[in-house]
Amino acid sequence: MLDLLDKLYEQNYLTKEEIVYILKNLDDAHKKILFDYSHSTRLKYYGNKVFMRGLIEFSNICKQDCLYCGIRASNRKVDRYRLTPDEIIECCREGYRLGYRTFVLQSGEDFWYTEEILTGIIRKIKELFPDVAITLSIGERSEEVYRNLFEAGADRFLLRHETASRHLYEKLHPTMNFDNRINCLKTLKKIGYQVGAGFMVGLPEQTAEDLAGDLCFLKELEPDMIGIGPFIPHRETPLKGSKGGTVEDTLVMLAFARLLVPDCLLPATTAMGTLHPKGRELALKVGANVVMPNLSPTAVRAKYELYENKICTGDEAAHCRQCIERRINSAGFEVDMGRGDSLKSRNSMQRV
Ligand code: 5AD
Ligand code: FES
Repeated sequence: MLDLLDKLYEQNYLTKEEIVYILKNLDDAHKKILFDYSHSTRLKYYGNKVFMRGLIEFSNICKQDCLYCGIRASNRKVDRYRLTPDEIIECCREGYRLGYRTFVLQSGEDFWYTEEILTGIIRKIKELFPDVAITLSIGERSEEVYRNLFEAGADRFLLRHETASRHLYEKLHPTMNFDNRINCLKTLKKIGYQVGAGFMVGLPEQTAEDLAGDLCFLKELEPDMIGIGPFIPHRETPLKGSKGGTVEDTLVMLAFARLLVPDCLLPATTAMGTLHPKGRELALKVGANVVMPNLSPTAVRAKYELYENKICTGDEAAHCRQCIERRINSAGFEVDMGRGDSLKSRNSMQRV
């Protein structure tokens, strides 16, 4: 076991079989070593800085029907909303005032926001705030649309692969296609976006082999950003009776992600903070180096409920900004309000 952990630390590589072996045999003493290694790798690549991203959840309308997701099309109980382009710009204005230099625009798959509307929003943000990075998290679109959004000024794109296991993916996504998902990620990379992939931990029937597959997929794709969070069941979905993921299992996955893709940007997700009062701090201590405080208007926050008991739904943007900074400091880290481009992209000098 120790020799495998040393290999992971020194070479940032393991085979799938080796990862499965670790996942199935990890005791507390070795887990501590894994976490020490991932923490020291993070320090080596990014120091003790934590990057801040302002998250704007601009629409909870979604045409897809993912079995786990609270805003799936079939959930009739969701109070649906769309922010207008002006309302989105206002969120950015508030975020900019609070010091944010990255805005993450996230929504369900909502084609009300056409290419034209989206490019208009992106251009306007870049015109008003030329020194910010824009990250899109809006799901699957055509290559042409992805290209035009990039040309308009979008810098990054988050599209979690959700699970690299084809049979699990197909079960969980009745309206979607696994190959298409993977192709979208490859296309985004080809266009020149800084790309974020990632997955959920604790999905129903997910095995150690599946999770090792997710990690190997990430190693192969080498994304700039990696979003990993526990699956948290939502009462109005077909998976309401499931067990869901744990903080401990997710921490192990975060540590692996840091070690396998050492220069990645790795958020301490809100889902971690939802499962455990110190969930995000714990994530930061095993290699996570990004947090994404909420900038959405308080009136709509609770409506963007992907999973139950989501935190921060009643808090003003300024409150989250302060709360998060306190948490980062108490965990022994420092806030970095810069754009926070990935090391990978800085090295290849793409539009940075
Ligand atoms: N529990 C945890 N994460 C979820 N997501 C969607 N639904 C849930 C849930 N019930 C995640 C997906 C998606 C991201 C925006 O939120 O991984 O990509
Ligand atoms: Fe929103 Fe703590 S981050 S209240």
